[in-house]
Amino acid sequence: MKKTVVIVAHPNIEKGSLANKIIVDALLREEMIEIRDLSILYPDFVIDVAAEQHALMQADTVVFQFPFYWYSTPAILKQWQDQVLSYGFAYGNEGDKLKGKMFIASLTIGGPLDAYKEGGYNNFTIESLLTPLEQMANLTKMQYLPPVKSYSMVYIPNVYNEKHEVQERALSHANELLSRLKQQ
Ligand SMILES: Cc1cc2nc3c(=O)[nH]c(=O)nc-3n(C[C@H](O)[C@H](O)[C@H](O)COP(=O)(O)O)c2cc1C
Repeated sequence: MKKTVVIVAHPNIEKGSLANKIIVDALLREEMIEIRDLSILYPDFVIDVAAEQHALMQADTVVFQFPFYWYSTPAILKQWQDQVLSYGFAYGNEGDKLKGKMFIASLTIGGPLDAYKEGGYNNFTIESLLTPLEQMANLTKMQYLPPVKSYSMVYIPNVYNEKHEVQERALSHANELLSRLKQQ
């Protein structure tokens, strides 16, 4: 596995997560992976841009790990993008610091697969909803690899899904991501 930085964006992974917590715990055991949990590092949304840019430059592969929120990323990941992917670093004149790195979006999705299609209640595929991240990778000259995604990951007792099913899907998700990273 090449050196990988995983940018984790979950507002409360310790107390408010089932799926992402399982995935991140599995990633933590790998020594080639650096985990940067944005809500722990920056609870006030004030991002240390130099530290984040340094971490990116050390890595060959960049992963965004997040729960899908309102068809997009959690707010802190957008804040991170807005602050860290600056002109002269990620794009523009001499802004080639991410060039050649691999990029993987790794996300847990509350809704089921059949909702994410034309005619389904969410109308669009996940791939089309992720096009802003794909174009982020294009502009910053990273190679956009297929996302690692799992559906039906919301757990609300007696409403959505069984806990053990979500746990199993989260473990499969972690294994798929790790196997993809080991191919790099
Ligand atoms: C604020 C918020 C917005 C959400 N928006 C979506 C959404 O747009 N589509 C979807 O499928 N699930 C949505 N969900 C469900 C989450 O994706 C799901 O709860 C999460 O992936 C489970 O991961 P966790 O256990 O690590 O929190 C949303 C959940 C929250 C709290």
